[in-house]
Amino acid sequence: MPKTIVAGNWKMNLTSRDALTLVKILDNTIESKKVTIVLIPSFTLLPAVASVIPSRFSLGAQNMHFSAKGAFTGEVNASQLQDVGCSYVIVGHSERRHVFGESDGMVNKKVLAALAADLIPILCVGETAEEKDTVDAVLKRQVETGLASVTKSQMKKVVIAYEPVWAIGTGNTATPAEADSAHGVIRKIVSSVYDVKTAESVSILYGGSVKADNCKELFKQKNIDGALIGGASLDAEEFSSIVADA
Ligand code: PGA
Repeated sequence: MPKTIVAGNWKMNLTSRDALTLVKILDNTIESKKVTIVLIPSFTLLPAVASVIPSRFSLGAQNMHFSAKGAFTGEVNASQLQDVGCSYVIVGHSERRHVFGESDGMVNKKVLAALAADLIPILCVGETAEEKDTVDAVLKRQVETGLASVTKSQMKKVVIAYEPVWAIGTGNTATPAEADSAHGVIRKIVSSVYDVKTAESVSILYGGSVKADNCKELFKQKNIDGALIGGASLDAEEFSSIVADA
């Protein structure tokens, strides 16, 4: 899989008809073959999107439960995601952490369960506005705890997304230098837990108000390997243009 990844997190948007139209337009407008493209719709849209998604795009889910099965009303497990054709799953998105109270420990269980089911977890980390002064410590805790018990060989199947909470859906993107520095911190943490080679090969995506008009500078940064896009991924023209620049 190409190391450069552009993933569209559609969040709680679209119905199946709109989703199918969006996939069709993306298929017609996206030409790049050097980028891994991941489309991440709501659970209910997964079967419809899976039935039309071209094989050059991958399908992902926005969340999952860490248990294999059981009495967890309203939850979805990793093998159910596999079953509908997902190969990626977002884990620990800031909206899950801050709106739904997911802890680092829960996020870690999800990472391990995703890997066990052969899904690629996109582990999201990032500081809140209040944590800006302690960003390195926040990233260290989130990355180290999130990856606890993940082996070096499993790291080949892990993607990390740096998404400063204050930048998500706000229009306030981190500057390219700020983002690159945080990605560098994450790479150092991965290097100290595993080794330099693992740190160099892991894909680290930036997320938080990425748009067609600010992505170029972000993608030029040494430590930025792609993007996790929310709002702009619902607009076919914006998303295609971001992929073209990646
Ligand atoms: P945004 O969301 O692009 O709308 O800021 C990014 C994300 O939450 O993954």
